[in-house]
Amino acid sequence: MDLVVRPGSVWAERVAGELAGRLAARPSLRICLPTGDTPVPVYDAVVALVADGACSFEGATVVLLDEWVGLPPGDPARCDTRIRAQLIDRLPAPPAAVHVIDADDPWPGAAAARHDVEARNLDLVVLGLGLNGHIGFNEPGSRPDDPTRLVRLAVSSREAAVARYGATRVPTAGITVGLARLLEAGECWLLVTGERKARILRRALEEPEGPDCPASYLRRHPRLTVFADEAAAGLLRR
Ligand code: PGA
Repeated sequence: MDLVVRPGSVWAERVAGELAGRLAARPSLRICLPTGDTPVPVYDAVVALVADGACSFEGATVVLLDEWVGLPPGDPARCDTRIRAQLIDRLPAPPAAVHVIDADDPWPGAAAARHDVEARNLDLVVLGLGLNGHIGFNEPGSRPDDPTRLVRLAVSSREAAVARYGATRVPTAGITVGLARLLEAGECWLLVTGERKARILRRALEEPEGPDCPASYLRRHPRLTVFADEAAAGLLRR
């Protein structure tokens, strides 16, 4: 595992620079992206790098990490709404493909199974860290061999949909790329910022792995890089 710690003032630019480098090295990059608040400044910085000509998403395939079930199309909390507003719609040339999750399918389990196919052969997965140790909607109790699937959401996640992301109603469930797909990707990045994530980051990286903290399984990945700002890294013994 590589741990990259930077001051909050330059953290996003550092991650964005790495991402631009991956895109430049492999224009057909297959990349799985999250839509929490953590990556927002990274997307801002990447959009600026694209505008400067440092990289392009034109040949890339973007695969969405997760989605709420039970929110109407266009809801501000929907992950497809957010990724388009924060990244995709700001690019001068769209990615070759964007695979969102069809949470409106009357059989969301079938939509999850279809997304599991898109989530194979990823070159890079970019992840945020939940305060309860979740990764995407791999909530506590998840296992490292879990596929992309329909999941029951933790109460904290249902509350966050409304309180943090402005959902117009409480979602009933979620669909998430499973830990099995994340662990088999070519490279895995965990993005963590802010003092409020310091305790769970220490739990994920320095205490025994286990289903109470799904993020702890990421340590099995042979090419895991944790990008933390100084506040989030504050409790690590390093
Ligand atoms: P955040 O969410 O990036 O908005 O903190 C991360 C998560 O809960 O997965």
